[in-house]
Amino acid sequence: MQQRLETALNEQIQAEFQSAYIYLAMSAWCAERNLPGMAHWMRMQWQEETMHATKLFDFLLSRGASAQLLPLTEPRRTYESAIDLFEQVRHHEQYITNRINDLYDLAIEERDRPLQIVLQWFISEQVEEEAQVAEIVERLRLVGTDGPSIYLLDRELAQRAAPTATEA
Ligand code: FEO
Repeated sequence: MQQRLETALNEQIQAEFQSAYIYLAMSAWCAERNLPGMAHWMRMQWQEETMHATKLFDFLLSRGASAQLLPLTEPRRTYESAIDLFEQVRHHEQYITNRINDLYDLAIEERDRPLQIVLQWFISEQVEEEAQVAEIVERLRLVGTDGPSIYLLDRELAQRAAPTATEA
C-alpha cells in the first residue's frame, strides 16, 4: 500500500475512534439529564463508530500496512440542549462524510481498488447516518421545549438496536 494511503487510513481510524469517544461523552451528557433513550442512542452510536474504526484497522493489517493508533482528544462535555447536541452530531457526521470522500478520491488517485471497495461501504453508511440524525434534529425542532414530546421521543430512541457486523 502506498505510504500516503497508509497515513490517511491511520488518520481515518483515529477520526472514527474520536467519533466513538465524542458519542460516549454525549451519552454521559444525556444520562446526567435523565434522557435514558438518547443516552442509549449515543451508546449505540459509540459502538457503531468503534466497529467502523476496527473495520479500517483490520483492512490496514490485511494489506500488510502498519497500524498507528494515533491519540484521541478529550471530547466536549457541555451542550445547551438536546437539539444542540444532535446538531453537533449532524455537523460531525458531515465532517466524517467529507473525510471519507477525500479518502476515496485519494484511493482513486493511487489506483488502490481494494480500498475503493471498502470505502464504497463507508460512503453508503454515511448517507444513512446523516439521514438518521437529520430526522432526529427535525423532530427535536418540531417539539421545541415541550416536555411530554421530548419524553416520547426519548422513549423511541431507546429502541435503537445494537449494530450488527454487516451494519457497522
Ligand atoms: Fe463512522 Fe459516523 O462515521
